[in-house]
Amino acid sequence: MRRFAIIGGSGLDRLGALQISARHAVVTAYGAPSATLCEGLFAGSPVFFLPRHGETHALPPHRINYRANIAALRQAGVTDILAVTAVGGISAAAAPGAIVVPEQIIDYTSGREHTLYDGVNATLEHVDFSQPYTERLRRLLLDQPDHGAVVDTGVYGATQGPRLESAAEVKRMAQDGCTIVGMTGMPEAALAREAGLAYATVSLVVNWAAGVGGEATISMDDIYRHLEVGMAAVLQRVGRAITAGLSQPDPA
Ligand code: HPA
Repeated sequence: MRRFAIIGGSGLDRLGALQISARHAVVTAYGAPSATLCEGLFAGSPVFFLPRHGETHALPPHRINYRANIAALRQAGVTDILAVTAVGGISAAAAPGAIVVPEQIIDYTSGREHTLYDGVNATLEHVDFSQPYTERLRRLLLDQPDHGAVVDTGVYGATQGPRLESAAEVKRMAQDGCTIVGMTGMPEAALAREAGLAYATVSLVVNWAAGVGGEATISMDDIYRHLEVGMAAVLQRVGRAITAGLSQPDPA
């Protein structure tokens, strides 16, 4: 049986619509996750919820214990993770307000604990990461005709943060093929793969990336406005994806 989890990002530190039935203070071999895991019903489906920045949004991207988060979800029996991220838009299709379900990722982060294979247990596996996101989950997020536009391709560039990028950095990322930029996509996606969990990201574009939209600077007010306006549609999409996913036969 599949068990879904939602990892919330900026603008989703609490899942107001979750009817909570249990809270799990999980301890893992990698330490404590960002918050207590909440279990409950969301849009009629059983889910776990974990806010990656913590309940009060106090954890910056480079301080998140991604390994503990993924390990905690695995310990709770989660099989499928839908990760919500806020991003800047680089390509024309990724305008503020757009919802993107990327299919590739480039990692520009540094100094983060990024693997479960750190030599301690004398085990090592070089996991395949050619397709970093689970296509079955991407389809659940995407195949929702009649429910608004969604960008069904894209390359997520994961930067270190917490500062935003320079215009030149974004230009280089565009040359690399990035279409959106965020700070938390890695190592989360890779750790989920190492842990054997299905994983996909749905990204809400909350600003034009630095130097892209014709503005000299990025306004935090605009970012908060897009977060507030756009997150409801993202959550509806996530809810429908989980309902559909739970009614599918178990993947082989
Ligand atoms: N860059 C990096 N992360 C982000 C951005 C951005 O422009 N917007 C929201 N998260």
